[in-house]
Amino acid sequence: MKKIVVAIDGFSSNGKSTMAKSLARAVGYIYIDSGAMYRAVTLYCIMHRLFDNDKNLDEGRLHNEINNIKIDFHLNSEGLPETYLNGENVEAKIRSMEVSGLVSRVSAIPFVRHAMVALQQEMGKAKGIVMDGRDIGTVVFPEAEMKVFVTADADIRAQRRYDELKSKGDTKTTYEEVLENLKARDHMDQTREEAPLRQADDALVLDNSHMTIDQQMQWLIDKFKQITTTDEQH
Ligand code: DC
Repeated sequence: MKKIVVAIDGFSSNGKSTMAKSLARAVGYIYIDSGAMYRAVTLYCIMHRLFDNDKNLDEGRLHNEINNIKIDFHLNSEGLPETYLNGENVEAKIRSMEVSGLVSRVSAIPFVRHAMVALQQEMGKAKGIVMDGRDIGTVVFPEAEMKVFVTADADIRAQRRYDELKSKGDTKTTYEEVLENLKARDHMDQTREEAPLRQADDALVLDNSHMTIDQQMQWLIDKFKQITTTDEQH
C-alpha cells in the first residue's frame, strides 16, 4: 500500500496526540509529536539559563545556539517514541508545568519555527508518518495526502484536562483555572504572527466533543483507508 503523510492539527487538549499515536500504531506508521520539539527547545532555554528571573528570554543567545540543539526521537521498550535533547531522554521533563508555561513564548519565534519545520520535513521525507501539531497541514506538509483538523468545545476540553489532572493526583487546580489557561493558549496559538493555528482548506474536520475514543479511531481509520486506496488507483 502506498505510504502517505498524515497531518493532524488542532487546539490544545483535544486528544489529538492520543488519536495520532493510535492511528500510527494501527497502520504501522511513525508518530511524531511536533509539540514535543518546541517543548525540548524550551527546556534547553531553561537548562542553559536563557530565561532571566523575570522570564525574559535572551533571543540573541538562542539564535546563536539553535544549531547546537539536537532533537530526535527513540522508541522505548513499549514501542512508543520518546524525545531526546542532545542525547538525553527528556520525555518527562518537557511535560512539566514550567515548560508548559514558557513554550508558547519559544514557539512564537520565527527562527525557532524555521529550524523545527526543517527538521520535521526531513523526518517526513520517506512518508509513512503521522505528525500532530498546529501548522502541520498548513506549513510543514501542505501537500500531505491526509489532513485532519481536530476541534472540540472549550468547556469539554477543559473538563477532560481537569479530569486528567485529578486522576494524576492534582488536588489544587480548579476547573476554572484549567478553562482560563486553555482559552489563553487557544488565543496565543491562533493570533501569533508566525504560522498561527488555522484549518487548512483541504483538511477533514473532526469535532470530537461528543465522540468516544473508539468512535474517533473508527472515523480516522475509515478516512485513512479511503485515502490510501483512492491514492493507489492513481
Ligand atoms: O501540543 P503541545 O501542547 O505539546 O504543544 C506545545 C506548544 O508548542 C504549544 O504552545 C503549541 C506549540 N506548537 C506549535 O506552535 N506548533 C506545532 N506544530 C506544535 C506545537
